[in-house]
Amino acid sequence: MKYFFLSYLFVAAIVVAAFGTRGSKSELPPLEIFQDMDHQAKVKYQAKSDFFADGLGGRRPVANSVPMGFEIPGKPASSPDYKPPHYGFTNGLDYYNTGKIGDYYGDGLPKEVAADKALLERGERQFNINCAICHGDSGNGKGITSKYGIMTAFNFHQAGSMDPANPGAYRADGAIFDVITHGKGLMGSYGGNIAVHDRWAIVAYIRAMQVAVKENNVSVQ
Ligand code: HEC
Repeated sequence: MKYFFLSYLFVAAIVVAAFGTRGSKSELPPLEIFQDMDHQAKVKYQAKSDFFADGLGGRRPVANSVPMGFEIPGKPASSPDYKPPHYGFTNGLDYYNTGKIGDYYGDGLPKEVAADKALLERGERQFNINCAICHGDSGNGKGITSKYGIMTAFNFHQAGSMDPANPGAYRADGAIFDVITHGKGLMGSYGGNIAVHDRWAIVAYIRAMQVAVKENNVSVQ
């Protein structure tokens, strides 16, 4: 027993000598028992790489591909006919980018967005991709996830949800835009996935669905 305690003390002294006491700082490089991720095969920026046939480490975008959320400007920026690209993510504090005018949600499409057939088609596509799983194909709040526990997705056809005079159910266009951008309650944010113009297209499509349901007097409970 005596020898056990002696050797125990000895081992403890060695461990403290090698690793230091808890919280002590060292200038020496850290001990890596398993290799840290600092040390892994990688290409540093601007460096060459033998992995690729042309020897370039930094790769160019795949030919004819367009980064998500962007479109190719038709004209160079120096040309008088240049128009800034249609698609992009939140970049500014104006109504188009935030859905807010000052501290308040605005209503109506911003001047940058033309209400036309292409907008509604785009909105339909983006709604079906991003929102329908929870809010339902018709926007009635009963998407496929309602069968698996998400019961509270907003029903865009609930009584008064088109009527600005009904503060309980009405959501202004800017408020819907803001919920897409930042999420609300149980709903996550889609600001990083859906470009600004597409968010407005979705808002327009939700309004079109509401009108269709109201005018055709269909029940979407
Ligand atoms: C993963 C499920 C899910 C998806 C996908 C989803 N939502 Fe929601 N959404 C919810 C839930 C749940 C709520 C209720 C949030 C709460 O009040 O807790 C909600 C609420 C809302 C509201 C009402 C917020 C308020 O003011 O009370 C709006 C507007 C809305 N969603 C729009 C959208 C749009 C537009 C999309 C597509 C871009 C979308 N949602 C995608 C689940 C979802």
